[in-house]
Amino acid sequence: MHKTSEWLQSFSSIRNEAKNSDLNRDRTLSCTKISITGGKGGVGKTSIALKTAQEFASAGYKTLLIDCDSNLSNTAIKLGLPLENKFEKILSGEMNFDECLIRRGNFHLLPACNGSVELFESKLNFDEVIIDIITSHEHEYDYILLDCPAGVSRDALTLNAYCDHRWIVVTPDKSSITDSYSLAKLLSQRFGIKENHLLVNMYQNEKQFQKVVLTLSETIENFLGARTMILGGIQKYDVAAEGFDTFFLSEGKNEFHRNFVKLLLGFTEKAGGPLSAPRKSVSQMAYEHDVH
Ligand SMILES: Nc1ncnc2c1ncn2[C@@H]1O[C@H](COP(=O)(O)OP(=O)(O)O)[C@@H](O)[C@H]1O
Ligand SMILES: [Mg+2]
Repeated sequence: MHKTSEWLQSFSSIRNEAKNSDLNRDRTLSCTKISITGGKGGVGKTSIALKTAQEFASAGYKTLLIDCDSNLSNTAIKLGLPLENKFEKILSGEMNFDECLIRRGNFHLLPACNGSVELFESKLNFDEVIIDIITSHEHEYDYILLDCPAGVSRDALTLNAYCDHRWIVVTPDKSSITDSYSLAKLLSQRFGIKENHLLVNMYQNEKQFQKVVLTLSETIENFLGARTMILGGIQKYDVAAEGFDTFFLSEGKNEFHRNFVKLLLGFTEKAGGPLSAPRKSVSQMAYEHDVH
């Protein structure tokens, strides 16, 4: 049984020849692709994608975060960067990937657009453009993370199916649980995806966390025959909405930070991929964060 990414590529019309060269093969095979997804908007996907990219990068992994919320891109704004809509220049061929990339050491970010008329009117399929970018550049990275849009559009489903892992972000809100199930159902029935990770965000107590985990993982198993791996959770931080990102994405080594690093460590220890030969282990990273 092929990995999902290989399966999708086998009939993709946009395969990149460079990917198959002997020069790139080893690095390509070791790039782990993760989509941060969940169906519903406002559940924390973008904050979690940014924090994960920052932490992987500071552990020594070359990490690319691609903003896949094509025309409502939030990654740059959360980092306090200007919104430049450069991505539309990739579509028109006026700029290439390297010219649109934001680089912060090992962390590279490709923002998408904000209300771009050019992108809205483009005849190109966004998911195919993104897969084309991935196949052309995965040999340069240890991790590629996709910050997925809300909803169950063709773009969201294809990009989720293309990745090696899907982190479904869910909150205790009933509509978030329902939307996450709908996403898992479409991925299972349309793409044969039988394995997802679950991250419960904004829970208020342990009981609530357990209830979300149980409800969703049992329903997915019973009705879809699919497995749900529990990544862990992030508690609701009791500040005004706009205050969370400043707190979560800052360098501060607070309790939220330590818990999130532990969550990442749990994933990287089980996931294999580039982590079987890390440059600096994530546990070492957690230790360094603790002692400083
Ligand atoms: N654990 C949390 N506690 C409090 N606020 C949070 C938490 N996680 C995310 N938020 C806030 O919720 C809002 C939506 O988050 P965002 O990452 O933009 O969601 P999405 O990408 O799923 O639409 C943001 O204002 C973010 O700072
Ligand atoms: Mg978002």
